[in-house]
Amino acid sequence: MKLCFATNNEHKLEEVRQILGDRFQILSLKDIGFEGELPETHETLEENSFEKAEYLFERFQIPIFSDDSGLEVHSLNGRPGVHTAYYAGDRNASKNMAKVLEELAEHTDRSAQFRAVVTFIDTNGHHQFEGIIEGQIAPEMTGEDGFGYDPIFLPEGYNKTFAQLSAEVKNTMSHRKRSVEKLAQFLKALN
Ligand code: IMP
Repeated sequence: MKLCFATNNEHKLEEVRQILGDRFQILSLKDIGFEGELPETHETLEENSFEKAEYLFERFQIPIFSDDSGLEVHSLNGRPGVHTAYYAGDRNASKNMAKVLEELAEHTDRSAQFRAVVTFIDTNGHHQFEGIIEGQIAPEMTGEDGFGYDPIFLPEGYNKTFAQLSAEVKNTMSHRKRSVEKLAQFLKALN
């Protein structure tokens, strides 16, 4: 089955292809001939995830899924949350992480979660799937792999950040894995 993954984030695309690639043919936006930014105008992951998928489905009428994701730090009342990508003002991961580390300096509770909301749309309607990985914010940025906030996120049960763990290990447990795996099970049950 062919599915288009509605993202301009090459890292997310690579992760999703690693997770689902043996079961589905994952088309990129480039593959379907879409260029440009996807709208993200809302204040929740759920609404933005739906908005991105709907925007493309209206234009291409093929099965589409999107991912809107964010880091939710409990001591910061869930911030950066829906503002994760631009938390320090622009899409600069180092600046974004520095802002979180600075804001957390006065807190002892460093627990956090990554949350992804996947929206799947086809001619039958839409469905959403949530994936969460709990963890802790590390004292400093560590590790070279991954993307975004990976260097400061210690997933539960590990004393290494996502950026120190291999993609294979991250993809067994990440919020993205947990959300797209639910999508895969949903699609399997349909067939
Ligand atoms: P959006 O879903 O494209 O609006 O942005 C999500 C942002 O959350 C990304 O730009 C990253 O900064 C961050 N993010 C989402 N998933 C991950 C992940 O798996 N590792 C690190 N950062 C992530």
